[in-house]
Amino acid sequence: MKRRSFLKSIAATGVAASVAGTAGVMTPRRAEAGKKLDIGEIKGLKIDVLTETSWFNNDVFKKNIMDYGGAMTNQYTIPWEWDNAGGYSVLITVTTLEGKERKFMMDTGWNNEWMDYIYEMNNIPAMLKSEEVELMVLSHWHLDHFWGIESTLKHKPDITFYAPKTYYPEDMALLKEKAHHTAKDKDTGEMKHICKNDHPHTGKLVLCEPKGEKGEGIYRLMPGVAVRNFDVPILLRVRGENVLYFNVKDKGIVTVTGCCHPGILSLFSYARKNFEGYKPYGCYGGLHISLFETWEPKFDDIIKGVKAFKIEKLGCNHCTGWIWAEKAAEAGVPVVKGTDKYKTYKKYSTVAKASNVFLTNGDTVVF
Ligand SMILES: [Fe+2]
Ligand SMILES: [Fe+2]
Repeated sequence: MKRRSFLKSIAATGVAASVAGTAGVMTPRRAEAGKKLDIGEIKGLKIDVLTETSWFNNDVFKKNIMDYGGAMTNQYTIPWEWDNAGGYSVLITVTTLEGKERKFMMDTGWNNEWMDYIYEMNNIPAMLKSEEVELMVLSHWHLDHFWGIESTLKHKPDITFYAPKTYYPEDMALLKEKAHHTAKDKDTGEMKHICKNDHPHTGKLVLCEPKGEKGEGIYRLMPGVAVRNFDVPILLRVRGENVLYFNVKDKGIVTVTGCCHPGILSLFSYARKNFEGYKPYGCYGGLHISLFETWEPKFDDIIKGVKAFKIEKLGCNHCTGWIWAEKAAEAGVPVVKGTDKYKTYKKYSTVAKASNVFLTNGDTVVF
């Protein structure tokens, strides 16, 4: 695959459709046929970035994909460079209107050694065992969000698990059937380990789809917190992403994503169109824009589009691209800066910069 077409194929999705009406002239929205959704309210939201470094070196990750046919290749057929694998996972703490703290997680990372290291550092094993962490939401079935599932299930095999309904047999085998997946190295013919899970999931599994629970388009996790499934085609033969929406009292809606494959402006538009009393407030996650630190004119449009929503806090990392986050901050997007704490970890990303526009490993954001 040619480098240019590869970069085009991995670039931000959902831009064209959602920029219209946000980046340029604001067009009035059609009145919704259905009733708007009241998802309730929370008092506060805290997000601890356990790990956002899904891989440490972009070039190595990109080479793995290109060597095996490009962005549409089945992720289970690529013998990924194990030493380059990290993971994406966050701990979410909701303060309810009554003042009680409730915790859950989004995503479970990739490389089990990295995830065990990260979990230990953040006391996650004890919180899983004691059920202080109530449940896990899987954003999507990508390797860097899901393949580390053993690191969670070995502490809590019956954790309630929300995942997109659009799984493949290999995904379910890893979740429930003690799969040890391997992929063939095309040069040596050797079958290389890519992921495993010896602790099958035994708990409640909620497979999410766009129609939601009771046909209302969302899954209600707790008052003020909803999951919405967007059924979009994604890279590496994955489909569908779960997105979290929080309604913070007196502040507004916070959108939280794993990779944001549907496109950040589409996700904001969904909230504006569907939530009762919608008020934009914040956003956190991998925003899937300039994944490999390259630039395209449409990335400027995303900056304009995000500004048009007038959110007050944007925390980003992972597949957002440092280059996009830096330009967005310069253009006046309220990017929440991270710290240098990531430098105390045994490994960190080769693209991390002094500008600290990413909330990275060990950072926290409060909404
Ligand atoms: Fe990702
Ligand atoms: Fe992804």
